[in-house]
Amino acid sequence: MKRSLGVCYYPEHWPQSVWEYDARRMASAGLKWVRIGEFAWSRLEPSEGCNEFDWLDTAIDVLGQNGLSVILGTPTATPPRWMIDKHPDMLAQDRSGRPRKFGSRRHYCFSSQSYLQECRKIVTKLARRYGKNKWIHAWQIDNEYGCHDTTLSYSDAAKQAFRDWLGQKYQSISALNDAWGNSFWSMTYDNFGQVDLPNLTVTEPNPAHVMDFRRFSSEQLSRFNRVQTDILRQYTSADLLHNYMGREVGFDHYDVGQDLDIASWDSYPIGFLSDRLEASPEHRLAYVNQGDPDMQAFHHDLYRSVGRGRWWVMEQQPGPVNWAPFNPAPLPGMVRLWSWEAFAHGAEAVCYFRWRQLPHGQEQMHAGLLRADDQPTEAMSEIAQIAEELSLFPDVDTVTSDVALVFDYESAWAWNTQPQGQDFDYFRLCFCFYRALRRAGLSVDIVSASDNALDQYAVIFAPGLMTIPSQFPRAENGFAGTVVFGPRTNLKDEKFHTKVPLGPAIPKLDIITKFVESLPPNASIDLNGGGQVLHWFEALEGGADVSLRTIDGRPVIASHDQTHYLAGWLNSEGLDRVVELVCKQSNIQIQKMPEGVRRRETNQAIFTFNYTNAPVSLDGQSIPAAGVAWKKAKAN
Ligand code: GAL
Repeated sequence: MKRSLGVCYYPEHWPQSVWEYDARRMASAGLKWVRIGEFAWSRLEPSEGCNEFDWLDTAIDVLGQNGLSVILGTPTATPPRWMIDKHPDMLAQDRSGRPRKFGSRRHYCFSSQSYLQECRKIVTKLARRYGKNKWIHAWQIDNEYGCHDTTLSYSDAAKQAFRDWLGQKYQSISALNDAWGNSFWSMTYDNFGQVDLPNLTVTEPNPAHVMDFRRFSSEQLSRFNRVQTDILRQYTSADLLHNYMGREVGFDHYDVGQDLDIASWDSYPIGFLSDRLEASPEHRLAYVNQGDPDMQAFHHDLYRSVGRGRWWVMEQQPGPVNWAPFNPAPLPGMVRLWSWEAFAHGAEAVCYFRWRQLPHGQEQMHAGLLRADDQPTEAMSEIAQIAEELSLFPDVDTVTSDVALVFDYESAWAWNTQPQGQDFDYFRLCFCFYRALRRAGLSVDIVSASDNALDQYAVIFAPGLMTIPSQFPRAENGFAGTVVFGPRTNLKDEKFHTKVPLGPAIPKLDIITKFVESLPPNASIDLNGGGQVLHWFEALEGGADVSLRTIDGRPVIASHDQTHYLAGWLNSEGLDRVVELVCKQSNIQIQKMPEGVRRRETNQAIFTFNYTNAPVSLDGQSIPAAGVAWKKAKAN
């Protein structure tokens, strides 16, 4: 698979006279892809029904004729102002029932029929006009679903659609009352028309109600995406993709991914370390100009799965951004490191956001590949180097890893709906496991719980999985690998009722959970032999073998052959011990990585990434600060 580079460009921000110049410069910088159009609705339809496509025709031609392949965005993340006057009901409402107004972006509700109709119209026009355009090789649908907290909307349109959805799901109101357990607090309904959205209640709403609202909202988003892909497929055979966000768990990405050809995501390593990652002050400082060493790779592995093997980075941070609480600059070398890391995890393309810094609007302080005065930024020379390296070393094929980590969106909603401990966050839990696996030098595949190729893995980790699906690989069905469940796996059924007796209910694993306790920050329980339990601990009882205990003898890992249940959320040291134990049992070789150094195996090469600001050496290879090194994979 040939890998390539690209950039995000906004012709509508610049005079037409510079488009040709920009296009030539992009091509000579070694860029192949240029993404345009995703926020240009007001330029494409300045007033109702009046379209202006000529400028876009020209922009696409200019870019294409200069050797670039265009990704055209549908502009539905930025509906124009006149549309809100026409359809005031298209705005989403926040949890407090306030409209999320015009003035930035993503100001729409997935359930608004009038908005959906406007989207159908503009997408159909674009598809008809550009579906066969020879310069357009991919289409991006909308922009960053869920970003800015936009999956859930408490609008009237959402309420009506939710009632219909519930009617379809439960068929009778008594079925809904049973499923939600509405005998509690006299919450029974007489008909679907009485069911409201789960906001503005006096105290917490029924968790089953919230879970259904989340499932519904995720389906509304998928449906919105599908409306667009269905139209585009009639007119184009180009690849369809979406640019997902980092740490966005509000909707089921696997579900959306089913309707697309490629998953892509927007990678802002330094911004994310600053604004969406739990980390100690020391860790933040150590990686202040590099980003967290595992955050990018986690998403690469996740979106590879969402894209069923095909994925890109659509927006790569090239310098300081504007939107995080603090916005440091990358160390020299990081743009190249991030880009190669994406390729090593299987990305087909890495595109940078954005071409030139723009001196107006919300993102005027966001770096591009060019400064606002048109001078190249530091990133440009790194990109030139990557482009050259790619031409010498274009193939990087992913291999199936030995180890899989299950990531399940419904479980994220479950523990957000009923955290039990304020800091029990599903993403955070899975990310702790991912980090431990990478500290052991392993390459990891992230998979959905219903993936039908799960049994190809030697080891599967499934922490925090709300319900184990019936087709999950099991020893009693002949699965020969190792599975580590827990903490908090399979403690609920699909109705969001707690299992009785409380416990993971895993065949042959003779344990139940007597009770669970969530631990406040700084509280911990020591493990026998090193490591600690933090955040969450289940008191297990039963006859299963116990391979790890707390210092005062309470079971932490209960096992039956190669099936293990982990009763607590362990700190790094504890998780490292679990990884070691399990890998030993499965004959998987691990190697402790130096701090900030990570490895990724591909078919052709083993890559080593040094996220630290000092050179390191590993296995006879030296890797500069903020650098990457590779050597041939053993099989080759
Ligand atoms: C992304 C978004 C872009 C731009 C960028 C700035 O989340 O898709 O449009 O806003 O952030 O970093």
